[in-house]
Amino acid sequence: MRWRAASRAAVALAGAGTLAAGMALVLTAPAAAGTTLGASAAEKGRYFGTAVAGFKLSDSAYTTILNREFNMVTAENEMKIDATEPQQNRFSYGSAEQIVNHARSRGMQVRGHTLAWHAQQPSWMQGMSGTALRQAILNHVTQVATHFRGQIYSWDVVNEAFADGNSGGRRDSNLQRTGNDWIEAAFRAARAADPGAKLCYNDYNIDNWTWAKTQGVYNMVRDFKSRGVPIDCVGFQSHFNSDSPYVSNYRTTLSSFAALGVDVQITELDIEGAPANTYRSVVEDCLAVARCNGITVWGIRDSDSWRSYQSPLLFNNSGQKKPAYDAVLAALNSGTNPTTPPPTTTPPPTTPPPSDPPPTTPPPGQGDCSASVTVNQWNGGFVANVRVTAGSSALNGWTVTIDLPSGATVTNAWSADRSGNSGTTNFRNVSYNGQVAAGQSTEFGFQGTGTAGTLTPTCAPA
Ligand code: G3I
Repeated sequence: MRWRAASRAAVALAGAGTLAAGMALVLTAPAAAGTTLGASAAEKGRYFGTAVAGFKLSDSAYTTILNREFNMVTAENEMKIDATEPQQNRFSYGSAEQIVNHARSRGMQVRGHTLAWHAQQPSWMQGMSGTALRQAILNHVTQVATHFRGQIYSWDVVNEAFADGNSGGRRDSNLQRTGNDWIEAAFRAARAADPGAKLCYNDYNIDNWTWAKTQGVYNMVRDFKSRGVPIDCVGFQSHFNSDSPYVSNYRTTLSSFAALGVDVQITELDIEGAPANTYRSVVEDCLAVARCNGITVWGIRDSDSWRSYQSPLLFNNSGQKKPAYDAVLAALNSGTNPTTPPPTTTPPPTTPPPSDPPPTTPPPGQGDCSASVTVNQWNGGFVANVRVTAGSSALNGWTVTIDLPSGATVTNAWSADRSGNSGTTNFRNVSYNGQVAAGQSTEFGFQGTGTAGTLTPTCAPA
């Protein structure tokens, strides 16, 4: 379509005798080249991000580059489980908020890394197992995603859950031993807590299309999509080195995952020795895949890298641009700009953010509603997600009643106020999701111990 339109225009201009070489160029040339990584990526409908260490925000050489070059930020360690829940049910967000606020106040977006992971668990979690651990990790996902609700572009909901080597299966971990469905339970809890964020599975050594680990993750994502598990994206860490080198089938990997109906993101890029050609190839591969949302490098200067001895980043220890930087910028600036915005799987928020005024305010007592529930059950516990749908007129408050079977006990709920925790249990809207336009829906969820069985929710307008 774009070529045809350009051709028609060129023919028309040529017919008028006005076609100069320069004008023909204007018809197909890219817009003005950006001069920073973030600006150039944005011109291609993408972002360019970096990992940020909170304690470096007082280093002006560091923040000068951060603020100039990047428009996406990932907390390098500050949103991990040991940082955000150092003691059970005592949450600590200070360092994470410092990074989120630094980014958002300057117009940068934030990737949330990471809600559920076998590593960097606080000591209280490392010793847990079974139902207690399942409850603890789902509570962690719910609490952290709720705390940052509306501020995160995409969450790494689950990190590094697959094994290296040729098995193509899951990594053994205390989380995996709670049951194979722990990953989907985490995704459902994250969706309920922060419905406007993209939800990613993130891993390393899944860049090479021929590797068993890549295929294992691919099969999981395909299964999740076929069963309606709420996954929106896959994060490719892309730590390239001699053991795990960049390979030319990387583009095939990105496009194959995208064909499953998820976005793809390059989330922790660094390349041993920072060869300019390899950095260029990675950028070109992302630009070639419409659903590749953007690229994040794992640090700013080589001295900031977890593998500083490999000098794998775009800036040297003094903050000077390296040849790899020039290659990345040139690749971002080459080609044409997208004619249409890149597709996105971000679901429309099912609940308006608290600050959004409702479109209309129906008087109390109007409307009718219905409710449906999906239950994710495992041995000893469950998570339920409930969808409340307004009938032919808008709702101005609702209550959902669910009869829980004997032995099932609700331990916590999100996006609803609960009364009771067993038997007949009522869930009432909270301040931001009581008003639902005619025919529209909102969601809440709860988790519990025991067996939920088949639940039949009833909905009543407030
Ligand atoms: O802050 C303490 C310091 O007080 C203490 O003196 C020092 C002693 O070793 O440790 C410091 O904490 C270190 C922390 O980084 C901050 O520098 C931890 O030991 C160290 O383990 C931690 O490493 C992080 C690593 O994840 C842990 O798994 C790296 O910074 C971080 O870049 C790295 O990031 C991971 C991604 O999350 C997931 N993908 C792989 C990637 C690289 O390993």
